[in-house]
Formats: sequence, C-alpha cells, structure tokens
Amino acid sequence: MGQDIKIGLLGAGTVGSGVIKVLNMNAHEIAQRTGIPISLKKVLVRDKSKPRPDMPKGAELIDEVEEILGDPEIKIVVELMGGLHPSREYMLRALEAGKHVVTANKDVVAQFGRDMFEAAEKSNVSFLFEASVGGGIPIISPLKHSLTANRISEVMGIVNGTTNYMLTKMSEDGCSYEEVLKEAQEKGYAEANPSADVDGLDAARKAAILASLAFNTRVQLDNVSVEGITKITPEDIEYARDLGYVIKLLAVGKESVENGVDVRVHPVFLPKSHPLASVNGVFNAIFVKGNAIGEAMFYGQGAGSLPTASAVTADIIEAARNIQSGLVRGSGCTCYEQKSFCPLEKTVSSYYVRLLVDDKPGVLGSIATAFGNAKVSLKSVIQTPLNVKDHAEIVAVTHPVEHSCLQEALTVFKS
Ligand code: NAP
Ligand code: HSE
Repeated sequence: MGQDIKIGLLGAGTVGSGVIKVLNMNAHEIAQRTGIPISLKKVLVRDKSKPRPDMPKGAELIDEVEEILGDPEIKIVVELMGGLHPSREYMLRALEAGKHVVTANKDVVAQFGRDMFEAAEKSNVSFLFEASVGGGIPIISPLKHSLTANRISEVMGIVNGTTNYMLTKMSEDGCSYEEVLKEAQEKGYAEANPSADVDGLDAARKAAILASLAFNTRVQLDNVSVEGITKITPEDIEYARDLGYVIKLLAVGKESVENGVDVRVHPVFLPKSHPLASVNGVFNAIFVKGNAIGEAMFYGQGAGSLPTASAVTADIIEAARNIQSGLVRGSGCTCYEQKSFCPLEKTVSSYYVRLLVDDKPGVLGSIATAFGNAKVSLKSVIQTPLNVKDHAEIVAVTHPVEHSCLQEALTVFKS
C-alpha cells in the first residue's frame, strides 16, 4: 500500500466526532477497500478546550483554518461545521487549492451548489455531499449514478429526522412539542438553530437538492413552498387518528408536462396503510418514481452521529479512490436544463380543513355548498361539539383539488 491520504476535518461536533469514530473503528476495512490508508491529520474546532475523547493519536486539534487550507499534505477537506458562512468560503478555498471536498452541509449545497461544482470542475477534484440529504441513507449517489437511466417524475419522502422524531413521539406517546424538541436536540438530530427543522427549511433545502438532481434543473430554496410543523396541535393529531391517518412532514418534488416542476414541503395526512406512514422516529425514507425502474424506496436513519458519519466516510473513500485513480467521477453539476415551475395555485393536493362554526341548523349544508361552488369535492367530514357555547368544529378532508379552488372556498368561510 502507498502513502496515507491525509484529511483535514472542519468541525468535530455530532457528525464530525462520528466520522472520527468510523475512520478509527473501520480503519482496516477502509484501507483495504480504498487500497490506501486514510489518516486524519488536523481537526478544526471553535473551542480547543472542550474535551474530545475520540480524537485519534497523531491528529492535531486546531482553531485556525489556514493550518488545513494551507497544508499541501492534506488532500481531502471534510466540512462538518454547518451553516452558510464561513463554511462556503472555506470549501471554495479548499476546492480552489486543489483539495477534494466532502460535506454534509445542505445549506451550502442548496444555495451555493453551482459555485462548488464549478470550482471542483476547474480544479479537477471531487465535491461530494451524500450526507446532505437523508443522513445515512444513500440517495444522492443513486440519483446521480444508479438511477441515471430513468426519466424521474417524482421524488418524495420524509427527509427531516428531528420533525419525524417529534411527530412520532407526539402521536404515539402524547408527549408535548417542547419536550420532544428538547429530546431531539439532546440526541444531536436538530440543527444548531432548530427552527430550521420545525419551520420546514431544512427539509426544503433537501427537497431543493433532491429535485435539482432528479429533474436536472436548478431548484433554489425560493422555488420550494414551505410549511413546517409549528402549527400542528394535539387536536390535529387526534383528528388524523380518528380519520385513519398519521401526520408526517413530507418533501414532495414532481415533474409533469402540463405543470412543470412542483417542489414543496408541508405536513401531510398519510393513510395508515401508506408505506411512509410507518417510517417513525429519526428514520427517513425517500420514494423515487422513474419511467424504467417504477418505484424505489430508500430507507434508513436520517440524522445522528454514526449514521450520518457512514455517508460522510463513504464520500471520503470515494474521494480517496479518485485521488488514487486520478479520475474524478460525477462531481460536475447535473442541472443542464432550465425548467419552469408550477405556480402554487395550480398545484393539486387533498386538503385537511378545520372550521369553527355556529352550532345551528343549515351550517353544514352551507359549508358543503361553498365547497361545491368552488369545485372542491369532500372525501370525509366530521363534526365535533366544542366547549365553546353554541359552536362546533367541522373537520373536512377533500379529494385532490387545485390550490386555487380551495382558496376560493376558504375565502367564502372567512367572509
Ligand atoms: P455540531 O454538533 O454543531 O458541530 C459543529 C462543529 O463545528 C463543532 O465541532 C464546532 O466547534 C465546529 N465549528 C462550528 N463553527 C465553526 C467555526 N466557525 N470555526 C471552527 N469550527 C467551527 O453540528 P453537527 O450536528 O455535527 O452538523 C454538522 C453538519 O452536518 C451541518 O451542516 C448539519 O446540517 C449536517 N448534518 C447533521 C446531521 C445530524 O444528525 N446532526 C445529519 C446530517 C447532516 P466546537 O466543537 O468547538 O463548538
Ligand atoms: N437536523 C437534520 C434532521 C439533520 O433532523 O434531519 C439531518 O440532516
């Protein structure tokens, strides 16, 4: 075997410390599979005084990035700090310096992917980001390589571990929102600012990455309509249960000839029999529909130290193989088309609607008429008495309708 390939790690938190463990735990297998040992030379952190029990002997803990970016021996830079800045700048500089870059940073990939691909192509190095979507689940590589013979019409799934963990615990154990968010943070699933998880932005960034790869067009965060889980109440969870559904936060990307590309993230009532309904806890799952493969589903842990480190380390191995062979495979941008996006009002979904109404004769009839006039067909309706005097709650689930039709019906109810 030849000389070690040396790597520099930017960040040693939840995922970074997982990568250190995997490199150590599987060092023999990794060396055999790569044909060369991989060794960690330097690890950048913010606070060098924090205890780092997993630091391997021989690796140096630093707090000055130049020591990695300016080190000619370091061939692979692994960015696991998170956030847009300075991660973007550090990665660009590493690529420009001819270093291969591996990252789990969906913020940067979703927003500055193009800059990264261009810099990587210019320097003939890899830019790899498997862990940016789905944690440990292989999905980026399948979309870039194994499924590339397909025309993909849909990519959809549960892509945020934190919110799936929270929704599972809230519906199965009746835990409070605050309690389960704290647990998800303690387990290292949540982003540094967990509003990115609960407001749906983390899932939206992943949806943008998946849709860009699936439909070969650049999908930016602005092109994704986003709703998180912050408005979901215990009553919604109970209604879902009574009607035979579970609530999941889904990322949905679709392409059709009539409507173009439609990418969104929102909570969904899923029938209990749907395969995604049983994806619980920190697990993620992603469905892909292609015109040759039919349907394929990818399932596994969507966050957490070791599962995410599994994906990051696989990318490190790929970069090491590229260094060995001198060939860089599939690091370029795959967005070679400029497709149009479906306007929100034309998107088609079933909707769940809760209406607080006067509890008096004729109300249900007038609601049914308003829905009917707006061409909204109802799938199921339940009425519950409330503790509010003379009021009741009507809960309706619609058949699939255009967003504009639902808005028309809601305008009548609000007036
Ligand atoms: P984390 O636990 O907060 O760790 C961040 C690490 O980066 C820490 O070691 C921190 O140093 C270091 N760091 C942050 N800013 C720095 C700066 N400006 N200069 C030097 N060091 C800096 O984050 P994480 O959960 O591991 O996430 C890392 C990345 O992986 C993020 O992009 C995240 O979205 C992504 N990701 C996370 C998961 C997950 O399950 N957590 C899953 C998939 C993808 P100190 O230790 O000194 O504070
Ligand atoms: N905060 C993210 C999640 C980490 O909960 O899914 C994995 O990307």
